[in-house]
Amino acid sequence: MRSAISVIFDTDPGIDDAMALYLLARHPDIDLRAITTVFGNASIEVTTRNTQRLAAFYGLDLPIASGAGGPLRVGAERDAPAHVHGDDGLGGMVHRLPAAARALDPRPAHELICEMVNAAPGEITLLAVGPMTNLALALRHDPGIAAKVRQVVVMGGAFGTYGHGGNVTPVAEANIINDPEAADIVFTAGWPVVIIGLDVTQEVVMTNDFLGDLRGSPAGDFLWEATRHYQDFYDGLHGIGGIFSHDASAAAYIVAPALFRQRRGPVRVVLDGIACGQTIQDHRKPGAEPNAWSACPPQQVCVGVDAEGVRKLFASLFKNSQEGVPQ
Ligand code: BDR
Ligand code: CA
Repeated sequence: MRSAISVIFDTDPGIDDAMALYLLARHPDIDLRAITTVFGNASIEVTTRNTQRLAAFYGLDLPIASGAGGPLRVGAERDAPAHVHGDDGLGGMVHRLPAAARALDPRPAHELICEMVNAAPGEITLLAVGPMTNLALALRHDPGIAAKVRQVVVMGGAFGTYGHGGNVTPVAEANIINDPEAADIVFTAGWPVVIIGLDVTQEVVMTNDFLGDLRGSPAGDFLWEATRHYQDFYDGLHGIGGIFSHDASAAAYIVAPALFRQRRGPVRVVLDGIACGQTIQDHRKPGAEPNAWSACPPQQVCVGVDAEGVRKLFASLFKNSQEGVPQ
């Protein structure tokens, strides 16, 4: 029997974060141990409230710890993207969710991460789908966790594959530009990182027909409603008749890595100037002159995806979910 994959989910809900959490909550191969929250799609107060209410809605009884309210670099805060995720971070639909069922964990997010990783060396996968501030703070708090984490999977970055550049600037993706220093710390640490960037998440379009077919369960109905605002933004910008499922694709990677093609090489983040937030991988053959990448460990960047496979995986969890999700 396959043992379940133990996951701590670091998130800034966020509509696609809510989709990713649904996948983690419902997939039989996932043992979701805790959720940590971070600023990003809305303020930390809003993303934490959303996380608590989504957890109650999905029937999750697990520790939730609130984390960073802004980036490592003081003064580098950016406005929350209400035009993408709505004023409430959930497309105006937070009022449909039940109240929080459980009080917040008293620990700050980075301390919870360190304690849980130290308590289960080699077991925990960290899945981060917001700015990587909590993970960077965890590494600063206890650098020893790098050797004890099973793997780190992040949604973030854009490497130009299939012409996918940034979604905030021509080169910078939102989770990275919200805290470039944190992302650079995470990518250059001595732990195995898999990066699910716009290169692949923008290949996984979920059309309105697809999302409409998920309706019929409380979660399917909620996600249909919550994605209306999100689809207005993406359809208006790209004419895709639906949404990019960024964070749900990263969650899918954890249970189905074979759906993704990866490229190996160290990754750095541009920290200043007009290219601030750009993610660059050195994937050339070894032997080049020493550079800012050479001393950094190789990480994996996803550069190909079976988009239909990701969609099918996600949809399969709704077909099985007519019962068990609270109204
Ligand atoms: C990422 O930024 C946020 O808006 C989404 O939740 C996702 O994590 C996409 O660039
Ligand atoms: Ca997110």
